[in-house]
Amino acid sequence: MDEQLSRWLGLREAADARARSDRLTRVIVDSLPAAGPIHVVDLATGTGANVRYLSPRLPSPQRWLAVDRSADLLDELRGKTTAPGCAIEVRQVDLGSLTDHSIFAGQQLVTASALLDLVSKPWLQALAWHCREEGASALFTITYNGRSSYDPPDLEDAMVRELFNRHQHRDKRLGGPAAGPDAVDATERCFTKAGYRVAREPSDWVLEPESADMQRMLIDGWAEAATEVAPDRASRIADWRGRRLAHVDARRSHLTVGHDDLAAWLPRTI
Ligand SMILES: C[S@@+](CC[C@H](N)C(=O)[O-])C[C@H]1O[C@@H](n2cnc3c(N)ncnc32)[C@H](O)[C@@H]1O
Repeated sequence: MDEQLSRWLGLREAADARARSDRLTRVIVDSLPAAGPIHVVDLATGTGANVRYLSPRLPSPQRWLAVDRSADLLDELRGKTTAPGCAIEVRQVDLGSLTDHSIFAGQQLVTASALLDLVSKPWLQALAWHCREEGASALFTITYNGRSSYDPPDLEDAMVRELFNRHQHRDKRLGGPAAGPDAVDATERCFTKAGYRVAREPSDWVLEPESADMQRMLIDGWAEAATEVAPDRASRIADWRGRRLAHVDARRSHLTVGHDDLAAWLPRTI
């Protein structure tokens, strides 16, 4: 069981829901066919947070295909995701190469949350063409854009952020070196090239002192990644982590983590 990932997804679900762009969800709803069941695939669904967010906001009935490589996360999804008017098929799939078109066949909406910064630029290009082949709309949310800010400020914030952003480009076995903070720009280019109209909106996490557990996990993750990139700065990074965690413990830490949502749809031909 990928317990740490499951715990992380549980912690972030409410922050993701608060951050997401309502407007882009509505843009995508308007792009969907008016009649018949809506067919949707959620890529790298994890425990299904994106299904739980979108299903009450899309027209019913809906037919979902929720895919992820983790059988344990998919089991958790089954246990906690029920939505009236929605049939949800859950499938264990490795999205590493994205060469298999079958998960896209017949879909009217392709969606993913917290995925695109993990994948490579060629993967994004393949994604756009899979969507185009089906004429599907696309909604990609909570993609990290590299722009985070922390309060109270610390002299080492910029150094850790820069190292973490470099780490974000490491290969996650999703088609090569990850697009990381460049993912939303690259996605916009790929979908525009495939003939889509594209809209973007910020979907930053704004974490107040009450989100202490999530803040601790973020700070630990940033420090660990930064140390992997620059082991020679390990002690400076550890000191930074200590100071940031002390702000969290004292309930005075505010973190803003930059994300973007992106919607893509094909112009109607009448
Ligand atoms: C940051 S989580 C996001 C999960 C979910 N979309 C959410 O918003 O809560 C990234 C997800 O990508 C999945 N993943 C990573 N590599 C994958 C691969 N090669 N094939 C399929 N899923 C993968 C992980 O199992 C994890 O569930």
